Amino acid sequence: MSGSELNLSVNIGQKLSLKNPVMTASGTCGYGAEVARFYDPARLGALVLKGISLAPWPGNPCPRITETACGMINSIGLQNVGLKAFIKEKLPVAKSLGSPIIANILGGSVREYVKIARALEEAGVDAIELNVSCPNVKKGGIAFGLDIKSFTKLIKAVRKDISGPAIIVKLSPGAQPIEAFARAAQEEGADAVSLINTVPAMAIDADSRRPLIQNIVGGLSGPAIKPIALWLVYKTSKAVTIPVIGIGGIRTGRDAIEFILAGASAVQVGTASFVDPAAPVRVLEGIEGYMREKGIKDISALVGGLVTGCS
Ligand code: SIN
Repeated sequence: MSGSELNLSVNIGQKLSLKNPVMTASGTCGYGAEVARFYDPARLGALVLKGISLAPWPGNPCPRITETACGMINSIGLQNVGLKAFIKEKLPVAKSLGSPIIANILGGSVREYVKIARALEEAGVDAIELNVSCPNVKKGGIAFGLDIKSFTKLIKAVRKDISGPAIIVKLSPGAQPIEAFARAAQEEGADAVSLINTVPAMAIDADSRRPLIQNIVGGLSGPAIKPIALWLVYKTSKAVTIPVIGIGGIRTGRDAIEFILAGASAVQVGTASFVDPAAPVRVLEGIEGYMREKGIKDISALVGGLVTGCS
């Protein structure tokens, strides 16, 4: 079976059609152009860009990244160029790369989210990922993602104003029960949910007795969180009919297939890109290899295809 005989296309609701299910995870490909020297971004299903806030933001004080066993902790704190510069300078370049563009957004209030989303709709992004799960900022972000009332209010308000781009809601692993948040997102008109964002965590240097992250707490990502992410994707996909996008420690095609079998329609590759910047393309090739090996022509045949009972 050759690559062209395989059908990897997926629909994220009615508004977003992707040629394959592999995307970058927000914060791991900059504004898109940064990865173009490692691979052709047009090969991916979509590029999810670094989170954007209304005003430019310097992020948290350094050190704000540390490696852990099987992963890393970040407390970037949403360093970004701000909406205006994003639309003027970054988005036109990202759009020229040939891949659908998903803008990840974060606001300190419902009004801010709506304002950013409106501007991005006008600027022609393909989808908006509502970041309600960043553990590294004091205002907004996870404050919306852990409280079902504020969460529902936010999605309702954004949906009311946005009709062009697909709306994806990025969930925190701390949203409990996660099924309730996913259902609320669906009921308020979200096109998909993506999960999981990082898991709040810390690391300590025993010699200096100091935290390794200036902010003390950051978000753990990478293979260490994959089993948690798989479980939450599995539970969530049973609770909703909108597509679920799996995120968490995906490094290989087989990792991605595991998420797809658990119920994900698509996946995002994040932390693996810090080890190998071309990781998203390797994941895509790995999925193709798996499909050839198993004689599967259409990726949709694998979505939610977990067989229960251990082998
Ligand atoms: C950050 O900028 O702190 C990471 C973003 C996120 O966790 O959503």
